[in-house]
Amino acid sequence: MNAADPNEILDDEAALQLDANGNLRHLLTLKGLDKALLTDILDDAEGYLTAPGALPARSQSLAGRTVGNLFFEPSTRTRASFDLAGKRLGADVLNLDVNTSSRKKGESILDTIYTLQAMHVDVMVVRDASDGVPAYIARHVQPHVSILNAGESDVSHPTQGLLDVLTIRQHKGAFEDLNIAIVGDIRHSRVAMSATHALTTLGVGDLRLISPPILAPDADKVPGARIVDNLAEGIANADVVMALRIQRERIGNLDGIPGIDEYFANYGVSHDSMKLARPDAIIMHPGPMNRGIEIEGSLADGPQSVITQQVTNGVAVRMAVLDRVGKTMAAR
Ligand code: NCD
Repeated sequence: MNAADPNEILDDEAALQLDANGNLRHLLTLKGLDKALLTDILDDAEGYLTAPGALPARSQSLAGRTVGNLFFEPSTRTRASFDLAGKRLGADVLNLDVNTSSRKKGESILDTIYTLQAMHVDVMVVRDASDGVPAYIARHVQPHVSILNAGESDVSHPTQGLLDVLTIRQHKGAFEDLNIAIVGDIRHSRVAMSATHALTTLGVGDLRLISPPILAPDADKVPGARIVDNLAEGIANADVVMALRIQRERIGNLDGIPGIDEYFANYGVSHDSMKLARPDAIIMHPGPMNRGIEIEGSLADGPQSVITQQVTNGVAVRMAVLDRVGKTMAAR
């Protein structure tokens, strides 16, 4: 493999996540997973959803297994939902406090992983600020261990992509006729990347990635999507509008990044800008939200918003993924 070619690296990563029988062993990226597998995971996730107020779905499919959460970047929703998903499947869940772990003493990530592996942690859920960490770990663990990417730099966030397409499917059905607008800091957003991977595989009609030019993605990273720098053009007749946070932690030099008022006026998802979308458009946001910057607060709480449903779906999707890698393990 030519390590300089990012597409080859991705192909290799896509192959790494399936076992010889095509079953999901690791979840590193949605890129390269086919439509049938994505659809099966969404269908499984739907099976874990219960009515509001009812008790959450539970099973014992991961009883005896251990899930380790290793979040080397902040997280509320993703970490809490992996924790609950593991417990609701009967697994033991270890939430490693990385701020007090030996990585702070200079231990390498692989040594941390080998330590947990020696304690029979079967599934490691990893969030890290550097590119390539989940795949790197996946190449080094023992054959019975699964690695799930819970957010990799600005590269990918596959379970987020799955929960986003599940939410869209629940409201809009088939993807073919949909206009989907993702608005915000696309360049630094792993959420936008994984949504793009899933939506293009699922056959989305028209995917528009809208941002100021300075926050636009490289075109070769988002084949199948349209890069748009004008909000009115991008949001026109949209069935789905997803707002994204400006990822300041990933932007080294903030020169040229618009100020808050200018940004909200030109790229904010607001009552005004939503007038251009379809009247029945849904509004999404992965959280954490910066109200009044990328989204008008009252819109986030209004009838078109499906933001809390995304959170609910997040637990179901993570149960579906954990159950699936558990079955792959059991079949080995
Ligand atoms: C996102 C993330 O961490 O990538 N949040 C999430 O997982 N729900 C988006 C963000 O941080 O803006």
